[in-house]
Amino acid sequence: DRRRRGALLDLHRKLTAYYHDLLLRAPEAQHARDYLKGRDFTRETAERWKIGWAPPKEMFISWAKNEGLRGRDLAEAGILKKTERGSTYFYFRNRLMFPIANDYGDVIGFSGRQLEENPREGKYVNTPETRLFKKSNVLFGLDKARKGILDEKSVLICEGQIDAIVCQERGIPNAIAPLGTAFPEPHARTLRRYTKTAILCYDSDTAGNKAAESAFKALAGEGLAVKVVAMPKGDDPDSFIRRHGIDAFRGLLEKAGSFIDFKFELAAATTNLGDPIEKARFIEGCADHLAVIKDDVSREALVQHLATRLRIGAPDVQAAVARAKKAAR
Ligand code: CTP
Ligand code: MN
Ligand code: MN
Ligand code: MN
Ligand code: MN
Repeated sequence: DRRRRGALLDLHRKLTAYYHDLLLRAPEAQHARDYLKGRDFTRETAERWKIGWAPPKEMFISWAKNEGLRGRDLAEAGILKKTERGSTYFYFRNRLMFPIANDYGDVIGFSGRQLEENPREGKYVNTPETRLFKKSNVLFGLDKARKGILDEKSVLICEGQIDAIVCQERGIPNAIAPLGTAFPEPHARTLRRYTKTAILCYDSDTAGNKAAESAFKALAGEGLAVKVVAMPKGDDPDSFIRRHGIDAFRGLLEKAGSFIDFKFELAAATTNLGDPIEKARFIEGCADHLAVIKDDVSREALVQHLATRLRIGAPDVQAAVARAKKAAR
């Protein structure tokens, strides 16, 4: 098994170098280079992150044959799969490739971004679960961010890998991204080893807000203090930085607020807190989140904060939290 792992890591190294080399040099990859340039990615950035281009099927097959790679090894690496009808399906065709590394910096999978709009396929495709690649165990960018997280005494969690790359490249060294909107518990346990504070900076849209709520639960449940960055509606860190600059983004990070403030902002547009029924529902929603906070002092501080903002007594909030705890059991 150790030998299999080693061979699989070698194959990932080879694939990473292949895709990367194509991106930098292949005439067929001009559109991919143009795309990166359009997103303000420099060649140095592409080199540091070993960004690549996965060619169309035929081009990949002829390279793989030439290299003597075997179909079953490529299948084990999550590059292709045999379909029930006996044909071969390739996961990554004409995609921008972001290698995904484990904590030691070894590539164990890829995330491929679509280069031409095609609604029948996802904008991003990740390596399926393999012997090496377990989605709930990898945080994109963590291998590069570890020192930054220790230095800054916090981790900045973005939604997309492009956001994490742009942040790191612009001098925010503690930025990472989970792969997708789920935030499984192992992520929180991993981060807990490095820091006590997480700053959430998810996309400012419905999906991002929901993802931020579930990340909060996982992180607070693991005992981390969580702050949330408020971005203008529709932005993600990459788009915000492109439009307003890195200093403006740093300003947002400095103003990152508590999770309760984030809930208030979410409610602002949709909820009339002057209405007793809506107010009660809002308190229940906050209580659901407060109930998971492991650290008593942090939870009590947020209970106070919520009570103050709503001009109600802390015992009322405490009662709601107690109910939420009971319901969760
Ligand atoms: N994602 C995914 N599959 C999709 C869409 C998204 O796995 N079909 C994951 C990716 O890891 C992506 C993250 O969710 O980075 C955030 O998605 P989204 O906000 O749509 O993408 P961006 O990172 O903003 O990508 P881009 O700026 O290139 O559009
Ligand atoms: Mn999004
Ligand atoms: Mn703006
Ligand atoms: Mn986004
Ligand atoms: Mn984006």
